[in-house]
Amino acid sequence: MSKKLYIETLGCAMNVRDSEHMIAELNEKENYILTDDSKEADLIIINTCSVREKPVHKLFSELGAFNKIKKDGAKIGVCGCSASHLGHDIIKRAPYVNFVLGARNVSKIGEVVNKDKAVEIDIDYDESSFAFKDFRSSAHKAYINISIGCDKKCTFCIVPQTRGEEISIPAELVLQECQKAVDSGAKEVFLLGQNVNNYGRRFTHTSEKINFTKLLQRISQIPKLKRIRFTSPHPFHMDDEFLEEFASNPKICKSMHMPLQSGSNDILKKMKRGYTKEWFLNRVFKLKQMIPDVSISTDIIVAFPGESDEDFEHTLDVMRQVEFDQIFSFKYSARPLTEAAEFTDVVDEEVASARLTTLQDLHNQILDKNVNKLKERIYDVYFEELRADGYIAGRSDNNHLVKVKGGEELLGRFAPVKITSPSRLSCVGELVF
Ligand code: 5AD
Ligand code: SF4
Repeated sequence: MSKKLYIETLGCAMNVRDSEHMIAELNEKENYILTDDSKEADLIIINTCSVREKPVHKLFSELGAFNKIKKDGAKIGVCGCSASHLGHDIIKRAPYVNFVLGARNVSKIGEVVNKDKAVEIDIDYDESSFAFKDFRSSAHKAYINISIGCDKKCTFCIVPQTRGEEISIPAELVLQECQKAVDSGAKEVFLLGQNVNNYGRRFTHTSEKINFTKLLQRISQIPKLKRIRFTSPHPFHMDDEFLEEFASNPKICKSMHMPLQSGSNDILKKMKRGYTKEWFLNRVFKLKQMIPDVSISTDIIVAFPGESDEDFEHTLDVMRQVEFDQIFSFKYSARPLTEAAEFTDVVDEEVASARLTTLQDLHNQILDKNVNKLKERIYDVYFEELRADGYIAGRSDNNHLVKVKGGEELLGRFAPVKITSPSRLSCVGELVF
């Protein structure tokens, strides 16, 4: 008899892949069918994120709600980054939770699911995390881990505490995974790591030690693979060799995520980001000069401890100079186990909110100014998602979300599309025959 699994995935692409991994592991022993209705589930899993404080607060209210509506005998598991750092406290605060499984331990789901009150949150090296299992949520795009953990220790970030030290997955395994995904029909791979372009930093196997640029070259040799994307690269590791490969390799999608965090050199230093405003801008302009249509996205934190008006003005200055295509912007949130949590020069909450609004308003102005340039452009779109409203959506090489009137016949296919109606978040277009 099969069981029903409800799984909620919060946070980043890494968590999406970890959820796929858990589904596959569970199915090794028992047959689970995914459900969207938590009330009918035999197992409810929340795969959590702990990068900011808000989602962590939300976790306990959500757990309470699940506990009320779950059917008799259903189990609840908390997994992912919040599980890693809260550990036993989760069961103390929510005693009905059946198991807690950290981000580095998702391979153990098959073991803990039938143990009551199991807590597995070790962040030591665990070889089983390389043992990929076959479950993919998309038939068209495959998430592939290339490294786990992070060694950078940016002072605001909890990730090194939840995902442990950085380990590169052997290139042979990554290539095998890419090949498997392509054999099963995916035309795009999405390489994942906390610091993808630091690939090669530490291997635990005696495998061939190659860097990220070489890995990209190898992957792009897979014949039926059409597109390679990756996240997140670190601006510090964007050397010329990497940027030149990015620009010249036709399979690498021309959309780069460049997490700025702050435009102020003083704040970047306090964050221990390892680069300066000048280096960041230099890398952006090199990219733009090599690829005029490149799209660049970023992450920005406002109101990091000690951030003055002048520091914030440097962030706005970078925004104006780069004109990012997409930004993910956040108010600084003090996280346990991080260096910055000890900093006492906290920025006033009102100032933080005002800065976030100013930043987002500026970005909207930039988008409004640039969006019309997309009109009449023709992009090759890879169609991935059927919409209920008669449209089908996909992405251009440089990551614009494009939708056209159409149906299943386009799913998993590439087609040229002329943009007819661009907007900030997505563009409507028509197929070009
Ligand atoms: N406060 C606010 N934002 C944070 N991020 C990471 N840690 C924090 C924090 N403590 C943001 C960074 C990172 C993104 C994934 O989340 O911008 O790049
Ligand atoms: Fe966190 Fe910095 Fe590592 Fe990114 S590079 S995961 S921000 S410590």
